[in-house]
Amino acid sequence: MDNFILRAPTKYIFGRETEKSAGQQLKDFGAKNVLIVYGGGSVIKSGLLDRVRLSIDEAGINHMEIGGIKPNPTDDQVYKGIDLVRSHGIDFLLAVGGGSVIDTAKGIACGAPYEGDFWDFYCGKKIVDKALPVGVVLTIPAAGSEGSGNSVITKRDGLIKLSLRTESALRPKFAIMNPELTFTLPPYQTACGIVDMMAHIFERYFTNTPDCQVTDRVAEGLLTAIMEEAPKVIAKPNDYQARANIMWCGTLAHNGLCGTGRVEDWASHFMEHELSAIYDVAHGAGLAVVNPAWMTYVATKNPDKILQFAIRVMKVNDEGMSQEDIIREGISRLKEFYISIGMPVTLSQLGIENPDLDRLVNKLHEHKGNPIGNYVRLTPDDTRLIYEMMA
Ligand code: NZQ
Ligand code: ZN
Repeated sequence: MDNFILRAPTKYIFGRETEKSAGQQLKDFGAKNVLIVYGGGSVIKSGLLDRVRLSIDEAGINHMEIGGIKPNPTDDQVYKGIDLVRSHGIDFLLAVGGGSVIDTAKGIACGAPYEGDFWDFYCGKKIVDKALPVGVVLTIPAAGSEGSGNSVITKRDGLIKLSLRTESALRPKFAIMNPELTFTLPPYQTACGIVDMMAHIFERYFTNTPDCQVTDRVAEGLLTAIMEEAPKVIAKPNDYQARANIMWCGTLAHNGLCGTGRVEDWASHFMEHELSAIYDVAHGAGLAVVNPAWMTYVATKNPDKILQFAIRVMKVNDEGMSQEDIIREGISRLKEFYISIGMPVTLSQLGIENPDLDRLVNKLHEHKGNPIGNYVRLTPDDTRLIYEMMA
């Protein structure tokens, strides 16, 4: 196990009707002038935005809004938010939505106090040392941004999707998590979220760092819980307990716990970010295609952890089977699981019939370096083969 520091100070307010405490939370954190950030309208339709506004009014806090944030959020919305913050003396951002909304709020939060272009942080030119505080009312368990210090934004010029990672500067001060708010999620979005949270665990589980028994078992436990609860929320969207379990898994998958003491990978996420940047597919659906292909490829070079995953998580009975067969069966079960919750497992099922492999591979390594990943270091030749395996 490697040395590590885990600083995950977000305050979680979890359970039924907790959104009513939004105003009080903001007050406790000293907010005076709040910018509410929201998406394409689901929070208006569900009445959530009205309830949050009321709660903030009751706390006597000023607020204004920026809405219309789209999935795979883009830099234009961040620039718009930065202008609003500067011209109205905003001192706190409240994201009401999912990863796209939260990440936009984080982009605004670090961009507003900075004299230069906020994109400097995303392309690695500058490190965030100052940011406005961010609070969250979460509506979809998926990206884990409610508990992470990260934000992912796409620059429209060149369709460059990059993630900014901070240890604590962009971790939300608080995250309100009411599983009832997720009852209205379309099954496809529910499933995308499930795939994404599993992928956040995979990126940390597949490591060469030895002797991380605790972190391994935490990861395996979360993956098992997700796969047990997933069919329940797909079959019965109003199953509060199953929704609650899935929601908490989404946070624990990505708040740093599963990465403690080990080197992480992230090649699959980088490969997916190119797909969602170019083809605007949902991040989770893209990962359902990338993850099995990546596993199949890296298992030919470094099988140990994929084997452990097949046996411990996918419950392949190893008696009398070769190592290759166990791995093949484990990955095949993972694909069956994705299909069972309505996810694509090939690029064509994802709606990408003729992927531009040159563009994908070139952009990938131009933005993320060469090689990428750690479990197996992947060169452009490797990543091209992995993209080809997704066909
Ligand atoms: O925009 P609205 O109308 O709200 O609809 C959204 C959107 O269409 C809908 N939705 C959300 N909550 C709902 C709901 N519909 C009905 N009822 C509800 N309760 O769901 C759609 C997807 O929302 P989005 O915020 O895009 O989803 P998600 O949370 O999956 O976020 C995806 C983004 O996060 C990034 C992804 O790359 C992608 O851009 N990621 C961010 C990470 C981070 N900050 O740490 C890590 C992740 O790996 C990921 O890369
Ligand atoms: Zn993700």
